[in-house]
Amino acid sequence: MATQTAERLDQQTIDTVKSTVPVLAEHGEAITKRFYQLLFENHPELKNIFNMANQKKGRQQQALANAVYAAAQYIDNLGAILPAVKQIAHKHRSLNIKAEHYPIVGEHLLLAIKDVLGDAATDDIIEAWGKAYGVIADAFISVEADMYKEASEQTGGWIDYRSFKVAGKVKESEVITSFYLKPVDGGKLPTFQPGQYITVKLDIPGEKYTQLRQYSLSDSPGNDYFRISVKREDETPDKPAGKVSSYLHQNIGEGDVIEVSAPAGDFVLETDSKKPLILISGGVGLTPMMSMLKTAAAVTPDREVHFIHAAINGTMHGLKDDLKEMAQTNSNVHTHIIYDSPTEEDIKLQSFDKEGYIEGPWLTSIAPEEGDYYFCGPEGFMKAVNSFLKEMNVPEENIHFEFFGPKGSLED
Ligand SMILES: Cc1cc2nc3c(=O)[nH]c(=O)nc-3n(C[C@H](O)[C@H](O)[C@H](O)COP(=O)(O)OP(=O)(O)OC[C@H]3O[C@@H](n4cnc5c(N)ncnc54)[C@H](O)[C@@H]3O)c2cc1C
Ligand code: HEM
Repeated sequence: MATQTAERLDQQTIDTVKSTVPVLAEHGEAITKRFYQLLFENHPELKNIFNMANQKKGRQQQALANAVYAAAQYIDNLGAILPAVKQIAHKHRSLNIKAEHYPIVGEHLLLAIKDVLGDAATDDIIEAWGKAYGVIADAFISVEADMYKEASEQTGGWIDYRSFKVAGKVKESEVITSFYLKPVDGGKLPTFQPGQYITVKLDIPGEKYTQLRQYSLSDSPGNDYFRISVKREDETPDKPAGKVSSYLHQNIGEGDVIEVSAPAGDFVLETDSKKPLILISGGVGLTPMMSMLKTAAAVTPDREVHFIHAAINGTMHGLKDDLKEMAQTNSNVHTHIIYDSPTEEDIKLQSFDKEGYIEGPWLTSIAPEEGDYYFCGPEGFMKAVNSFLKEMNVPEENIHFEFFGPKGSLED
């Protein structure tokens, strides 16, 4: 990627882009807000691809702005940010973003820069950013082309969306329900790496636009089904019910057909590591962890595994039976369950190990510093876990995490 950039951009363009990154970053959110406004005004069909709830919460604006400025900062050495490009490219591939979408985004980004910066956005600046965007876009397009190829050419693979029938629907807790999905065409399923997700595409009656959402695969690879386990996002006084999760829970049952994209994502278990494996989850963040746990127990049964899970109480704790079975059949699997508000039943059955929240000293007492750490859960939970791991001096390269939304920062 670096060589391509050096060939395509002259030094003056590189200098102009790099020197204006701080100015654009300062107006980052204003520019991306304006960008999305213009984009959806001129291309309302793109509302079929973007999650409009993420737009309302501003997370997507932030994620896109950060990515563009990071890329611009490294415009003469995009190879240095390849891992970040790949993480985004996985999401794009799972959403079926195509090369032809890129010029539309580029055009509207430049329009938004002009609108927000006004006279400060000189012709030279706009021209330099136009060229730089072209190079950044080509880097994404090329990484994504490889991913599309891999997804479609693997055994059982496919491109775009494939129809899946719900072969089973299992209530896992008061709020989490699993869906067992099998291809309608009766063909093979590809393998996937534990931790990966699929995108589910739904046309919900009464909704003008198609809804796309990611769900981590919650069972191990190698079955003749994909399993997703979905938390129902109920309405509360300050927010509406989640569109897709509610629809799946209330309206999708056995025999129904939904559209699914091939597994994607870079939050994956390193199966060749021999270090202790520590899987930490909060709430429905346990789905990728369960896939990792089952895979580790099957592939590396000698590996020490700690499965740490925090839930409100036993009624909200999903996939309990899977966990019990894993712990009973694998002597190297150790489970540590934390409930912050255990019910009387939980107390009677002694179904948890700690009351309250995950805490640094407690984590230190059970988890080895020399381990591979994977975690997922609500943002506050992930920030807390990340800071405990830093205090424990766990090296950065042994820390892996997944956001159930646009990737954000774990630093306060
Ligand atoms: C990689 C990845 C893996 C994931 N894996 C799983 C998984 O295994 N299981 C799982 O359950 N989920 C998972 N998710 C989350 C999932 O993709 C959805 O985000 C989730 O199901 C909510 O979607 P929804 O359509 O129900 O809610 P949306 O309609 O998308 O709403 C999302 C939230 O925003 C709130 N909201 C909507 N509109 C507004 C507004 N105007 N103001 C304020 N708040 C608003 C809603 O109340 C809701 O809480 C994953 C996400 C990612 C990115
Ligand atoms: C160089 C250009 C682009 C950059 C830097 C970029 C960056 C990003 C980033 C950082 C995310 C969040 C990833 C995450 O979930 O962690 C994202 C998601 C996404 N991108 Fe892009 N993107 C680009 C081009 C495009 C194009 C051309 C499209 C299609 C029109 C697109 C559509 C999306 C969608 C639909 C999402 C998911 C957002 C959601 O609905 O929540 N992106 N992109």
